[in-house]
Amino acid sequence: MKHLIFTALFLLSYTVAVRAQIVFPTPNQVEMQTGNLILGKKVSMYAEDTTAFYLNLFREEVLSHTPIKWQKKESKADICWITDSSLPPEGYRIKIHPQQMVISASDKGGFTYAVQTLRQWVAGSAGSITFACASVTDYPRTQWRCFLLDSGRQFQKITTIRKYIDMASLLKMNYFHWHLTDDQGWRIEIKKYPKLTEVGSKRIDGEGTEYSGFYTQEQIKEVVKYAADRFITIVPEIELPGHELAAISAYPELSCKGEPTTPRIIWGVEDIVLCAGKEKPFEFLQDVFDEVAPLFPGEYIHIGGDECPKSSWKECPLCQKRIREEGLKADKNHSAEEKLQSYFVQRMEKYLSDKHGKKIIGWDEILEGGLAPSATVMSWRGEEGGIAAANMGHEAIMTPGSGGMYIDQFHGDPKIEPVSIGGYDPLSRVYAYNPTPDTLVTTGKANLIKGVQTNLWSEYMYNTDLLEYRAYPRVLALAEIGWTPLARKDYKD
Ligand code: ACM
Ligand code: ZN
Repeated sequence: MKHLIFTALFLLSYTVAVRAQIVFPTPNQVEMQTGNLILGKKVSMYAEDTTAFYLNLFREEVLSHTPIKWQKKESKADICWITDSSLPPEGYRIKIHPQQMVISASDKGGFTYAVQTLRQWVAGSAGSITFACASVTDYPRTQWRCFLLDSGRQFQKITTIRKYIDMASLLKMNYFHWHLTDDQGWRIEIKKYPKLTEVGSKRIDGEGTEYSGFYTQEQIKEVVKYAADRFITIVPEIELPGHELAAISAYPELSCKGEPTTPRIIWGVEDIVLCAGKEKPFEFLQDVFDEVAPLFPGEYIHIGGDECPKSSWKECPLCQKRIREEGLKADKNHSAEEKLQSYFVQRMEKYLSDKHGKKIIGWDEILEGGLAPSATVMSWRGEEGGIAAANMGHEAIMTPGSGGMYIDQFHGDPKIEPVSIGGYDPLSRVYAYNPTPDTLVTTGKANLIKGVQTNLWSEYMYNTDLLEYRAYPRVLALAEIGWTPLARKDYKD
């Protein structure tokens, strides 16, 4: 009987210990062990590179600034950071024993994510820091774990952007898709075209007040570094050839008719787009990318490509001349104007690749009329675009609104919620999304799905409270979709 009671108590305490160690997103493997590693007023550490940023993050966020003594020998240190090239990219292992903790990874990402796990694992504070003993082995399910923030419709302060980067890193995301230009606002300083921000970043809202805001190149450099330190790559999006009214307001000659206009003051899609017949819009975009590309050292630039109405191109003599000269012919699937959009995107792809060594990402409309050779497709109108791209041997990123990835939609009762774009996208729906369609698993093309992202379009996010209300808790679901193996997902948990 006594024995049974002890066993029950042991099991209960074990369960309590396990329950206490909730790490989000759920790691691949967690083996709880008995005992704790208890650290005192001073902590000794061993690391190959004591200047690595993740060690600062660890000291600030996990050790609460407890003083450190660096050890030259692993055996003497309370905490050891060891490179282990056998671990997968961005993966890590943490072994916590009563006398020592050993953290291993093969790259900076893995060490950073180990820190993010330990932030959730640690108990106590400066002077008495406790870690429950365990062995954790973890690595991501997908290579692209990303959230989009729309700074075009509404401008967010740099402090807000930093906060989102902190959140993304804590949740083990590795990309931030920054939507920087749209019909309603141009938000990035371009030195060669000052009117983009002098004119294009300002609009007169419905009630007659001026709305404005943009990021200077210095601010962008600072944010890019802030993100890189936390293992987040920022992918800038500069929309083309549609969603460009803010730029056209600054430089009207970029449109087909060249008429004066203003940044759009209502939401929705603008019919006035960049002219594909004139050379000027291409020169303009090349100059813009000459300034944008060096600011963002990552591999990718997002060129938009979505929702470009073709009405002005149909009427424009120069666009029609381009169609004739380039031999762009309508076929049973695509109009000549859709082929013209493909011409536009392919020209920009070649420029970004030849001049800047960048790969492009575009919304799934870039499939229409022929896909640029190295393009990655972002599938937003369902999964079909992503599946088509993968079947053509291209990489794709899944972010379908129909799959719950549009977190600007309502997630509570629309009768009492703040106004939103519409739709209904509760947490359970976001969490249930699987970015790897069965059809691609069957055909062996699932590896071309790079990963997944949610989109936080900002039309109705007039302030950061509303932005956060929409973001949380749905970005947590996104984090687990991108990171955790399917078999370990558990909505109730
Ligand atoms: C999009 O939602 N227009 C990509
Ligand atoms: Zn035109």
